[in-house]
Amino acid sequence: MKSLPSPYILVGDEIFPHHEAKVSASDRGFLYGDGIYETLRIYQGIPFEMEEHLGRLRESAEALYMVLPWSDEELARKIQRTLEANETQEGRLRITVTRGEGDVRARPEDLRNPVIVIRAQPYEPPAEDFYLRGVSVEISERIRNLPDALDPAIKSGNLLNNLLARFEMRNEGTFETLLPNARGELTEGSLSNLFLVDGKGRLVTPSADSGILLGITRKWVIDLARTSGLEVLEKAVLAEELYEAQEAFITASTLEILPVTRVEDKPIGNGVAGSVTLALLETYRQGVRDYIESFDWPETHA
Ligand code: PDD
Repeated sequence: MKSLPSPYILVGDEIFPHHEAKVSASDRGFLYGDGIYETLRIYQGIPFEMEEHLGRLRESAEALYMVLPWSDEELARKIQRTLEANETQEGRLRITVTRGEGDVRARPEDLRNPVIVIRAQPYEPPAEDFYLRGVSVEISERIRNLPDALDPAIKSGNLLNNLLARFEMRNEGTFETLLPNARGELTEGSLSNLFLVDGKGRLVTPSADSGILLGITRKWVIDLARTSGLEVLEKAVLAEELYEAQEAFITASTLEILPVTRVEDKPIGNGVAGSVTLALLETYRQGVRDYIESFDWPETHA
């Protein structure tokens, strides 16, 4: 039998062997996509930027009128137990929280028993070659959810908007598809945030009000660029600006900083990973090393 990617999964407060890890068929996450999630990258057994991910999990919960009954220390302990059970070193870890069981007509205040599932699996990195030669992206005809309808800033477990954009990708060999908003501005990729370096050498990224997930890697890159003296513009970004950019890249916890060197069949800049992108990637990887070196699991008070 093929070995399972996550031999042990945490459900609630218990770790189960993969096939015994179960949630109810009446779970609202299953029935309505009524839940939230986070994906963290694990380096040497350490969850990178854990506090930031737990913070965003809480923000997503709040935006969906969900109350999380666990402290950050309790959540950290659940993560730690899952990583230990799976002996994860280089991995990705997903925290899923659903609103639990309940009728579709129930009000959020009547549903205070969220279900938590944590799974860790080995990390399969994109080919290292992608970081040198860059990847190709396309622009989707599917628009990103409107913030007034379902704010993309909420990391909801309902991924249909992103998945439809992925299913509709037109070109084989395209790594990511970029979704415009209803105004025709670029927002983000189906699973990543977008950056470009413009003709003046400034770092440009779609602003929060373009309707995006506020990526943790995105924030890291913005802070890093600003401290290193690079001008950063968070603004409305049009597709033409991407075509005319000197460099572009996408970010996500599981991708780090991945150069984008083609939009459909058009090269960006001179068609290879740019120097600003590669310098940011190197500093990011140094930041990861510093983080794991200084990381301590929080004390738990039983
Ligand atoms: N996706 N935008 C979208 C729509 C995403 O799904 C993600 C992450 C990002 C990047 O966010 P961060 O830097 O915090 O990882 C942006 C993860 C990898 C996922 O869905 O598993």
